[in-house]
Amino acid sequence: MQLLDGKLVSEKIKKDIANEAADFLMTTGRKPHLVAILVGHDGGSETYVASKMRNCQQVGFDSTNIRYEDDITEEQLINKIRELNQDETIDGLIVQLPLPKHIDPENVTEAIDYKKDVDGFHPVNLGRMQRNLPCFIPATPYGILLMMEHYKINTSGMHAVVVGRSNIVGSPMSILLARNTQPGNCTVTLTHSKTKDLQEEVLRADLVIAAIGKKNFITGDMVKEGAIVIDVGINREVSTKTKSGYKLYGDVDFQSVAPKSSYITPVPGGVGLMTIIGLLKNTLAAAKKEVYS
Ligand code: GUN
Repeated sequence: MQLLDGKLVSEKIKKDIANEAADFLMTTGRKPHLVAILVGHDGGSETYVASKMRNCQQVGFDSTNIRYEDDITEEQLINKIRELNQDETIDGLIVQLPLPKHIDPENVTEAIDYKKDVDGFHPVNLGRMQRNLPCFIPATPYGILLMMEHYKINTSGMHAVVVGRSNIVGSPMSILLARNTQPGNCTVTLTHSKTKDLQEEVLRADLVIAAIGKKNFITGDMVKEGAIVIDVGINREVSTKTKSGYKLYGDVDFQSVAPKSSYITPVPGGVGLMTIIGLLKNTLAAAKKEVYS
């Protein structure tokens, strides 16, 4: 069993990004700029946005966090997005999810200029990803691909089983792994809450992507000997034992699954750190107009 070390890989890639950001500053006189909109006070979202802002600063990007209380209307939010779309000093624009119930995330996602959609959630980017055209790839799936690239894991011909069909992870991950790319060229099964026999499906997997959002959901009896296991779960529980007051649990029961796996990501220290890398790389590519002119 080998650990896929998100800390090691993310630190290495962050250095490359910082060098490229410095070059960008030299040639253009400005820094890549990410704007993140945060609505309300969801505990997880507060942590993630703070981490995104901190990481931007660490690699020499400008970052702006725009905050609203959760009584903002959908119209007000979309008007602000339209204004930011026009602002040429902004390269990447994201709206942290989830949003309050009275705001439709689809309307918000479609309001963002797809050329600034560094989350890769806009239907234009989603469609272009499916066609293997230049696009912004959602940060978590992108980070997972970069992790597999770093460890030179050849996924060609593997049976990949994705558990969870969210717009943010499971659904785009299934598209990416099925593409004729490396990593990719997998035979993909996308499973979800209505899947009949989940254990039977997961047991067939050479590569498991666990993205259901349930603590320790994937157990050793569900995983084939030698499988690669990618744990996307970030399940927060209050704890008196940690400095932050929270402890993170993955979707994978590490203790029973690790001994059966060939490679496995830990939580924390795995996919979460790579998600940030995906976002930083997209923001840099947006600033350099590498995806769209
Ligand atoms: N909520 C959970 N993950 C994400 C993400 O990658 N981007 C945004 N905007 N919201 C999220």
